[in-house]
Amino acid sequence: MSEFEIGTQAKRRCDLLGTGPFSEVEGQLTRRFLTPAHARALDQLAVWMAEAGMSVRRDAAANLIGRYEAATSDAPALLIGSHIDSVRNGGRYDGPLGILLGIDLVEALHRAGRRLPFAVEVVAFGDEEGSRFPASMSCSRALAGTLDPEAVLALRDADGVTLAEAFTAFGLDPARITEAARKRSEVIAFLEAHIEQGPVLEAEDLALGVVTAIAAQKRLIVKITGTAGHAGTTPMNLRKDPGPAAAECMLALERICQAGTDNLVGTVGRMTALPGAFNVIPGAVEFSMDIRAENSATRDAAVEAVTAEIHAIAARRGLAASVTLMQALSESPCDPGLTTLLEAAVGDLGLPARRLPSGAGHDAMVMADLCPTAMLFIRCEGGISHNPAESVTEADCALAVRAMLGFVDKLADQFSRQTSLSSRSERDSAERRDPGATRAAPGSRSAPSGRPG
Ligand code: GLV
Ligand code: MN
Ligand code: MN
Repeated sequence: MSEFEIGTQAKRRCDLLGTGPFSEVEGQLTRRFLTPAHARALDQLAVWMAEAGMSVRRDAAANLIGRYEAATSDAPALLIGSHIDSVRNGGRYDGPLGILLGIDLVEALHRAGRRLPFAVEVVAFGDEEGSRFPASMSCSRALAGTLDPEAVLALRDADGVTLAEAFTAFGLDPARITEAARKRSEVIAFLEAHIEQGPVLEAEDLALGVVTAIAAQKRLIVKITGTAGHAGTTPMNLRKDPGPAAAECMLALERICQAGTDNLVGTVGRMTALPGAFNVIPGAVEFSMDIRAENSATRDAAVEAVTAEIHAIAARRGLAASVTLMQALSESPCDPGLTTLLEAAVGDLGLPARRLPSGAGHDAMVMADLCPTAMLFIRCEGGISHNPAESVTEADCALAVRAMLGFVDKLADQFSRQTSLSSRSERDSAERRDPGATRAAPGSRSAPSGRPG
């Protein structure tokens, strides 16, 4: 396989996973967490991981992990990956591309017979989108050791199934979910490659970008409650209708975010009128709010302002309102040292290394609690994402793997230098404590520091 074919293979595999048995819905890609379509996609990824030379396992949180061993046993690992779940009627590359580029990278190492001073693990997370349960990233949070199992396992999907029940149906024991947590000493870094999901790279005619930071986000559920009634007999001035109130709330969210700074954005992506019939004034309207900004302070100020507006709108209309926080994720800067390495790897391909922030959420923002992170963006057509029209080119995918391979080489150099420095300084201090002792054990090595600088 030539280097160009490497990225091409990843793209082709994303296309294959975008259809048929890997989707819950015929004719579109909907692959939510812990569904049979999720399981089938993991089975297929496991085959490809094994073919690329990895040992493969599923962890206690439904993550699929392929491991390509280092030159020495028990070495810490560089984790590379992204998510295999999708939004409803989503695109084929948001998530899977980062996993499949990782598999292609390992296949390239394997075919060349190369081993690194650290292991490489490719991870397929299962719940980045939060498209089934009202919170997201439970898989990466479990792996990073930051998951609150009680809160997460009690979450319910639209059919009333708890996450714990879905876990059991997937063949996993929910009581063991925290066993997926990795030790810091086992992981040196996390690298995620992802389509940009925005128009900047395409507008600047660039194939690749290097991510500086991921925006802070909050997910909330708003419920406005009134009185259900007959649509034909209840005069307009005698209604307690939460529908128009919900519309006013949406407009307030739009107004507050339009006036905001720091890339403040707010979205109502789901709205349900209950009980939901042509001829019934709804008794309640429930809607989601997704609010993001470059920093938590701006995000939180917007959440406060919108919440105050919602209560005021409801009170003015004689309705009740509740605003419930489902999830908060802080902004997550990528590691400056790793970002510089990634930039240099992109530069080595003769490409400008454009730095840009990510408005989209990624597993990397959660992984940052475990280890230093870096993210590579790949141009996507029209910046379109969360849409079946999502599109990337084979040539850009090939460049992405080459940049990732360059990054891995640079990280290996840095890691070897640090390991030999720390071995030397340990030998020196052992020598000072007990002159002659280190000479008695030739070839003994200290454990690697586990972290690049
Ligand atoms: C995932 O795509 C997100 O940004 O919510
Ligand atoms: Mn997405
Ligand atoms: Mn994604």
